[in-house]
Amino acid sequence: MSKSEYPKADNRKVLNPYSKDMKRLLKRKSYNAGARPSGHVISETGFLNDHGGAIGPNVLDLEGNAFPEALLKYSGTQWDAKYRAYCEEKELPAHPARMQSALSAFFIQFLTDEDDLVFDPFLGSNTTGAVAQELGRRWLGVEAKSEYIEGSKGRFEEIVERT
Ligand SMILES: C[S@@+](CC[C@H](N)C(=O)[O-])C[C@H]1O[C@@H](n2cnc3c(N)ncnc32)[C@H](O)[C@@H]1O
Repeated sequence: MSKSEYPKADNRKVLNPYSKDMKRLLKRKSYNAGARPSGHVISETGFLNDHGGAIGPNVLDLEGNAFPEALLKYSGTQWDAKYRAYCEEKELPAHPARMQSALSAFFIQFLTDEDDLVFDPFLGSNTTGAVAQELGRRWLGVEAKSEYIEGSKGRFEEIVERT
């Protein structure tokens, strides 16, 4: 589904730290190879390559990634606190369907490099833009409702208005 033959998607950017068992295995350099009841055959060396971490079982289980982990610890509440306070102060409606920032962070890190442009055509409270900026990407977005755009300013330290 990529636009190019060599897509940027790179799961090495979103790996979890290895478990203790995996670290031991990499040190030991031997593995219980052979056929499993499922019929899957594990090679002698298949699990002995150190890739620097493991692919997480779930997008939102990014233990090794300081950005999502810190956010998930607070279940998104801390992340949103400034935004919600800003909307309240300005008497703007807080967006009712804000995305979990960790989800945004996962895909931004997985699919883009620093300085790339991240585009969200349905910006809402602009979770995407705020996370993209935090991760050193540029961002661009479209949102139909002006009050959500106004409220999204609460996600940023500095706003530059251009006419
Ligand atoms: C599910 S919300 C996005 C929430 C966002 N991911 C966040 O974390 O806040 C979808 C947004 O798309 C906007 N929208 C719907 N149709 C649109 C359109 N045709 N052009 C621009 N924005 C649109 C809605 O106003 C709504 O705020």
